[in-house]
Amino acid sequence: MRLYVNIDHVATVRQARGTDEPDPVRAAVLAELGGADGITVHLREDRRHIQDRDVRLLMETARTVVNLELAAASDVLALAEEWRPHQATLVPERREEVTTEGGLTFTGEGVREGLTEAVRRLKDAGIRTSLFIDPDAESVRASLELGADAIELHTGEYANARGAERHEQLGRLRRAAALGRSLGLAVHAGHGLTYENVTPLAAVEEIEELNIGHSIVSRAMFTGIERAVRDMAEIIRRARR
Ligand code: PXP
Repeated sequence: MRLYVNIDHVATVRQARGTDEPDPVRAAVLAELGGADGITVHLREDRRHIQDRDVRLLMETARTVVNLELAAASDVLALAEEWRPHQATLVPERREEVTTEGGLTFTGEGVREGLTEAVRRLKDAGIRTSLFIDPDAESVRASLELGADAIELHTGEYANARGAERHEQLGRLRRAAALGRSLGLAVHAGHGLTYENVTPLAAVEEIEELNIGHSIVSRAMFTGIERAVRDMAEIIRRARR
């Protein structure tokens, strides 16, 4: 299983003051030293945390791979075609949201056409393309129809649930992962994962990549980012055994 570390919130702290520190590009170096298999950044249309300069520099300096999250309908699509990261993950984006709140929806006027066009453009540029979706059968099937290489299952509801409800959410994720794999899609997962809740999910065999940001960056405040990534990687490794 691959651990991709999302460093958006290193940039959030920088943007709070509008200075040049902390630099997410430097954080990426340390995350890689801690064992990250890839670096994930979300270049939002409103540029609230990660900036164009960050992605450009990451493309030059990352020793692993860059997974660029973007909205299908934003100017970032053209930048992705130019930068050609290893992987692009299409996500829904709403200006007023604090963080990505749900997976992609496939209904509504022109929505499916817009996503199909975005997937086609990314794939034509040679970029592995993933779709961030809710863990339900319709979304998995729609992703296949759109021509995606991979799906990233939204784990937010699992992360927010407690007790029996969490168990149910884990079941949903397991079923969606099994379906995705059986259809030939690579299966990723992420959002809201922490040191405390990652184990059951990391044990799901069909899931090959986890994207984790906030929890790792939060712990990094106390332990440093290299150690924070290493500790998460170790939990995942143990769950996998
Ligand atoms: N995956 C996707 C598609 C996301 O949008 C995010 C949040 O930016 C994450 C994973 C990481 O979520 P978190 O920061 O809660 O770990």
